[in-house]
Amino acid sequence: MHHRRSLATLLPVAALIISLSACSPGSPSGTGSVFTPTVSPNGYVVAFSQEGLENDWRSENTQSILSTLEGAGYKVIYQQADEDQARQVEQVQNMLQQKPDILVVEPAEAEAATPIAKLAQDAGIPLIVADRSLGVDPGSSPMYKVLITQNWEDMGTKLGQAAVNLLTKVNGSPKGNIVELVGVIGSSPQVAMDKGFKAVIDQYPDIKILDAQDGQNKRAPGMTIMEDYLSRFPAGQIDMVWAQNDEMGLGALKAIQNAGRNELLGRIISKDGQVEAIQQVADGVFATVCTNTPYFGPIILPYVQDILAGKTVPTAPDKPFACFESITAQGLADAKAQYADLQAAGAKFANR
Ligand code: AHR
Repeated sequence: MHHRRSLATLLPVAALIISLSACSPGSPSGTGSVFTPTVSPNGYVVAFSQEGLENDWRSENTQSILSTLEGAGYKVIYQQADEDQARQVEQVQNMLQQKPDILVVEPAEAEAATPIAKLAQDAGIPLIVADRSLGVDPGSSPMYKVLITQNWEDMGTKLGQAAVNLLTKVNGSPKGNIVELVGVIGSSPQVAMDKGFKAVIDQYPDIKILDAQDGQNKRAPGMTIMEDYLSRFPAGQIDMVWAQNDEMGLGALKAIQNAGRNELLGRIISKDGQVEAIQQVADGVFATVCTNTPYFGPIILPYVQDILAGKTVPTAPDKPFACFESITAQGLADAKAQYADLQAAGAKFANR
């Protein structure tokens, strides 16, 4: 199920909108918001801390969680931290003072977000972490109940193999130069995907990463960084682009098109499963995209319900993903079918 309400349309539903500065005197003003939506029939309050709203993935993800929890009758206290990890920890502290029944957190970085586990423990509030992990495992303290995410290292491995396959196809053997667009240094997807990706390509001494710059999971920095790569590495020196999310991959594509570096069309790999990126795979312009559905609401809801009912839940359920690639006939056919499905549904992202 896709939750397609925009944040703009969510806001009028809220009974109260308070600026963050009003609720958190120590925080910079004008960033983030708290809203208290309709009264909860079952009386439970869920606090939801989002690391930021840096791109469409994050907006869709936030809408999915808010609308699912609200739709199930929970009162939701929500704040987003504009990708500032210290601010998010502070916001969590403030939310816990409002004594919610459960806390859901999507952190920015792993290590720097780790204090959140202790905050929840000290407050005696059960904690669900989703999408990105903390620097500690679920179960490491009794209140940290579950981490709901996908296996990022496995995805890095699959994308590393996709890079090897692509380079082999274009160069006749596994060799070539990669430029990388990194998605937030220190975040768990970045750390784990890098580990999986490098474990694969390190087996091939003729495959090299020329440079890796942090594009913060955003399109404009992805484009700017790619422009820099294109000016530093003339045609023939770059064999492929590894973007750690679709937004950066789409920004890189724009830079490639603007520069007329057509040799790099068909040589971009990325992840998220954004409809624009799946379309590029279906058109043979991206070589591979692995999915990471942002529609977490229906995934998180049963954990919220079970934990509030006092049930024990699995601490690390696996969130499945799929990869689409244009370099094989089957992959291309799957990508075309996926794109047609997404278009028919009017969805912005794959739902797996
Ligand atoms: O943590 C997941 C990543 O966060 C998504 O891939 C990205 O688009 C978002 O910013």
